[in-house]
Amino acid sequence: MTVAPDRIAWLQGSAFRCDPEPEAPERVYRLALLGPPGVGKGTQAELLCQHLGTCHLSTGDVFRAAFTGACTLSPALAAAQDTMRRGELVPDDVVILLVRERSRCLRCRGGFLLDGFPRTVVQARALDAILAEQGIALDGVISYHLPLDAIVARLGGRRICPQCKAVYHVTSHPPRQEGICDHCGTALVRREDDCPEAIRVRMQAYEADTCPLIDYYQAAGKLISIPASGTPEEILLRTLAALGVPEVQRSGTGRA
Ligand code: AP5
Repeated sequence: MTVAPDRIAWLQGSAFRCDPEPEAPERVYRLALLGPPGVGKGTQAELLCQHLGTCHLSTGDVFRAAFTGACTLSPALAAAQDTMRRGELVPDDVVILLVRERSRCLRCRGGFLLDGFPRTVVQARALDAILAEQGIALDGVISYHLPLDAIVARLGGRRICPQCKAVYHVTSHPPRQEGICDHCGTALVRREDDCPEAIRVRMQAYEADTCPLIDYYQAAGKLISIPASGTPEEILLRTLAALGVPEVQRSGTGRA
């Protein structure tokens, strides 16, 4: 099995080089994931990247990495920390600058899977412009959907690794040793924005600011709508089929 790139160029900025550098897959995918908080975007991103060879570019992970001291905090990023704790969206100009500073990752030879960006129509237009400057385009935008009660159950049991960013769930995807990351042995934590009040604010932000992107990408002919019910492996198979990944490449979709 190939070693996943450490995503350091994305998490810490363009002065860093990923180790190992992603290999060029047979087919390069450039995709974005849409969906409400807790629908399972990060979980699917991890599985999809293993299958497609793409790099997982999550804006939420960049912010969380910055707050744990992995890179120097600009005043705008420091302000973003409080915004995220409340469950509100970080201002468009801060997020767009952060992505623009990492635009080399969009030219990654392994392709990319954007997770959590774009989240507003302003951000989607900015992404269109950045990609056009790079001479590339999105292949598709995968939109996951799930009833609210299932989302709340997923968020309530989530635990994350503050070191390698792996995502677990206390019942549906527990680590081998309780409270400890399978990959790097770090103690797992709850995300600060997984408290009931912040979840409510995040859902409202999704409805008001991110839902319009469904129409935006539908109109652009890029939208791929996928039900997010069932196990992560079932959702992965659904997604690979919708992307037209040949059946032979969809085998071995269980978690490592
Ligand atoms: P971000 O980190 O992007 O969070 P989010 O969109 O709220 O999404 P989550 O990470 O909460 O959920 P997910 O869909 O990835 O679900 P997961 O796979 O973890 O953003 C956080 C904050 O950063 C934002 O609120 C905002 O403040 C700021 N921000 C980031 N980007 C921004 C932008 N572009 N503009 C402005 N602000 C921005 O799964 C959830 C749980 O369910 C896990 O425990 C998992 O194990 C479990 N699970 C997953 N799949 C299944 C399944 N099939 N069955 C059972 N359990 C499952």
